[in-house]
Amino acid sequence: MKQELIWKRTHTCGELTAENEGNTVVLNGWVHNWRNHGGIIFIDLRDRAGITQVVFSPESEENATDDAVKLRHEYVVSITGVVRRRPDNMVNPKMATGSIEVYASKLMILNTAQTPPLHINDPDASESEELRYRYRYLDLRRPGLQYNIIFRHKVVAEVRKYLWNKGFTEIETPILMKSTPEGARDFLVPSRINKGKFYALPQSPQTYKQILMIAGFERYFQIARCFRDEDLRADRQPEFTQIDAELSFIDENDIYSIFEDMIKIVFKKCLDLEIKTPFPRMSFKNAFRTYGTDKPDLRFGLPIHDVTDIFKTTEFKVFKSIIGENGNIAAIAATGFADLTRKNIDKLTSFVSIFGAKGLVWLRLAENGVEGPAVKFLSKTEMDTLIEKTEAQKGDMIFIIAAAEKTCFTSLGQLRLELGRMRQLTSNDDYKFLWINEFPMFEFSEQEQKYAAVHHPFTSPVQEDIPLLETGDFHKVRSRAYDLVLNGFELGGGSIRIHQKELQQSVFKLLGISQKEAERKFSFLLNALTYGAPPHGGIAFGLDRIVMLMLGLESIRDTIAFPKTTAGISLMDNAPDTVSETQINELGIEIKKEYLKDGEKEKI
Ligand code: AMO
Repeated sequence: MKQELIWKRTHTCGELTAENEGNTVVLNGWVHNWRNHGGIIFIDLRDRAGITQVVFSPESEENATDDAVKLRHEYVVSITGVVRRRPDNMVNPKMATGSIEVYASKLMILNTAQTPPLHINDPDASESEELRYRYRYLDLRRPGLQYNIIFRHKVVAEVRKYLWNKGFTEIETPILMKSTPEGARDFLVPSRINKGKFYALPQSPQTYKQILMIAGFERYFQIARCFRDEDLRADRQPEFTQIDAELSFIDENDIYSIFEDMIKIVFKKCLDLEIKTPFPRMSFKNAFRTYGTDKPDLRFGLPIHDVTDIFKTTEFKVFKSIIGENGNIAAIAATGFADLTRKNIDKLTSFVSIFGAKGLVWLRLAENGVEGPAVKFLSKTEMDTLIEKTEAQKGDMIFIIAAAEKTCFTSLGQLRLELGRMRQLTSNDDYKFLWINEFPMFEFSEQEQKYAAVHHPFTSPVQEDIPLLETGDFHKVRSRAYDLVLNGFELGGGSIRIHQKELQQSVFKLLGISQKEAERKFSFLLNALTYGAPPHGGIAFGLDRIVMLMLGLESIRDTIAFPKTTAGISLMDNAPDTVSETQINELGIEIKKEYLKDGEKEKI
């Protein structure tokens, strides 16, 4: 007789309920947990749909317990049995299948498993990330991570459906390409057949999507892999995924409404949450002056107030000297923070120093009046106007920072976030979206002593600011860029593009890109602009970040099947790795001696 290799499942481990009572079923899956209660063996059987309790009893007619005693964590099995209700006192209301169990009659062990180095069945296990990433295939078996990855798939599916319906064509663009400037370092790939030349991996498909507009596709999108060699953080990976889109014959309002609807639908379908649209909009300047950042977290208040004017004629030396240097004085009225201790305040003072603030002035609005070391230096009018302007009340603490503009607002913005963290003023299931617009077009880099594009060099200036490019008032030029911010994270960003060669050339020039360099790097785009380029614009969203925020996760790594560590390493397969000398030779490149491993050095 032909031996059966597997009994195929009739049900998943997530779907049986009391309604299946009496059914004979076959389940396939992994042993999540096992317990031997005096010869009766309980197995929690797991597949991607859920967990079902299976019972092996020596009393069952076709006794399968002989094999069942061998079962250990992560063995792969197929079982046949009958669904029965659990006794009332054994019902587990936390499990979808908690009212039933399967009384097993037959067991087939499909594979054994070594004792896993991770506690797959313990959602709170605190193994090191190193161990988790080394055994990522086991880590990914955890129901929590499975949920994240499947949720991510659902988000992508909804995005695709929405954009297809809106007339977007999904088009792939090359991975081996020419460098696109997005502000990070490129990953380079040496070419074997064109020795001495390198491809760059895309930091984004920016230039290609613009070319697709010039090619007449009008609405493009792609779930695009992007690669950036930059310092990693919780919300940054060297390779990540964008929902990347570009449209012709549109303006900012079209972008806002099409993509607000996309977000709305994704939240509705994937989280069953109603997101209110339209999203509020705020200029970059306003965001910076009110929240000290271009990505404000609007889940709580504590706005910053510019109070420089109040102290124009002050005798308080610290403020006077900053005003003399054209700096700013700004304040936050921290509602309900009057109970902070000196120790708390000292901690906050050293916290703001990280961002360059040399001091933190504090005024406690106590029951018996205003307290704090700075009180004696402020006049009554200054104090009254300050309280009025910041709308501070008894029980509040006013924090003031005096510094050069950027330091002043940035450090207060960080202080605001720190206060929010101290008092847990935010919740992960509160979603506050915000468009930031009217960005400056250029930013002066002190380090490089030249202007850099705030978004990227293909972004169009605001029409009425174009003459400023001629007069040299570059810092006043506003761009047609926009970012979508959610709860303090930049979720997406884009712009209306330059579609005329002359304007593109003058922007390149201003950014210190010589005509020769522009020709070398971007002649394809500059040329294409001269063949009837339509007005166009677009946006890209960080898919990993969207999923992270929708699920209230701490890091985008928990949304990515195979993420890299902060050192840019994939621990499971050990990438990046050394390659053979032959491969290196074929590429016509050489590795510096100091980077060769000892054994390889000897070969030279
Ligand atoms: P930008 O550089 O703003 O724009 O990127 C768009 C969005 O991509 C996400 N993102 C990242 N996510 C994870 N890890 C990273 N290292 C990382 N870098 C960026 C962010 C960000 O908002 N071509 C333009 C878009 C356009 O103009 O249409 C671009 O790439 O969520």
